[in-house]
Amino acid sequence: MVSASKVLDRVLVLEMVRVTEAAAINASTLIGRGDEKAADAAAVEAMRAALNELAMDGTVVIGEGERDEAPMLYIGEKVGSAIGTGPRIDIALDPLEGTTITAKAGPNALAVLAVAEEGNLLNAPDVYMDKLAVGPGYPDGIIDLAKTATENVQAVAKAKGVEPNEIIVCVLDRPRHEKLIAELRGIGCGIMLIPDGDVAGVIAVTNPETTIDMYMGSGGAPEGVLAAAALRCVGGQFKGRLLFRNDDERARARKWGITDLDYIYDLKELAKGDCIFAATGVTDGSLLAGVKRLPGGKMTTESVVMRASSGTVRWVRGEHRKNG
Ligand code: FBP
Repeated sequence: MVSASKVLDRVLVLEMVRVTEAAAINASTLIGRGDEKAADAAAVEAMRAALNELAMDGTVVIGEGERDEAPMLYIGEKVGSAIGTGPRIDIALDPLEGTTITAKAGPNALAVLAVAEEGNLLNAPDVYMDKLAVGPGYPDGIIDLAKTATENVQAVAKAKGVEPNEIIVCVLDRPRHEKLIAELRGIGCGIMLIPDGDVAGVIAVTNPETTIDMYMGSGGAPEGVLAAAALRCVGGQFKGRLLFRNDDERARARKWGITDLDYIYDLKELAKGDCIFAATGVTDGSLLAGVKRLPGGKMTTESVVMRASSGTVRWVRGEHRKNG
């Protein structure tokens, strides 16, 4: 059997772009059509078909939900054309990160996935995760979820050599973040409120052009693992703590082997070892341009694929013709 790392090296890095491209292209037919479910289903179907063409023994560890909730790309589903013989790899995926964004033709919808050797991605249950992220170039341990938002901003401001009121924080625009937003406004921070799409929100801290210094607040735990995989490749720091609203959610976590429910995860605990992160833009965003349809049936896509062990980041612009 081929070792997984060899395959991560040689085949999967670039193949992953085909997978996210396929999902993005299919989902893009439903941009602005007001139908979140149809857009998601289109992305799921295309991503699954593309994954099943790859010579691997893949297991979806973060997917569309549990088996009884999701007919395709459910957690535990085997994918690939070499099940039982190919390299065993785990896959975290979100065929359409930003279903509402896509339905409303807003910014930053992505098709994303992360792959790693078996056992290296946290099997995060579909609960919320408290997230804290900062871009590369800061001393290790500068952010800490056990500290207040104010303390974290002060630490980053000091290391950046600016005042706390010069720090820009990205936060999902949700009523549950009212207190956090008030605290940040209290110290004069700039707050970039995003309607959805916190994978792109977290990754934005790594790109100075976005002007975003930090990401804070709660969002989906699966999206947290995907964002952590991306930061493993491009640099930056990330902390995540699962949040539970009821006993059912706690039971889900225990089912996936999580015993310490208050644990604060570091980047390397969410995505361990070598991993690959790939994303294709569905709609235009801070990370990637969305799918464009040109006269004559041509389409363009923009993708990024990165790998943790080498730190290589490849930007891929695809041109696609209907029959080609
Ligand atoms: P979907 O693509 O599944 O709709 O997720 C979009 C998203 O904004 C994520 O980026 C984020 O992690 C999560 O939803 C936040 O959840 P909620 O909408 O419940 O606040």
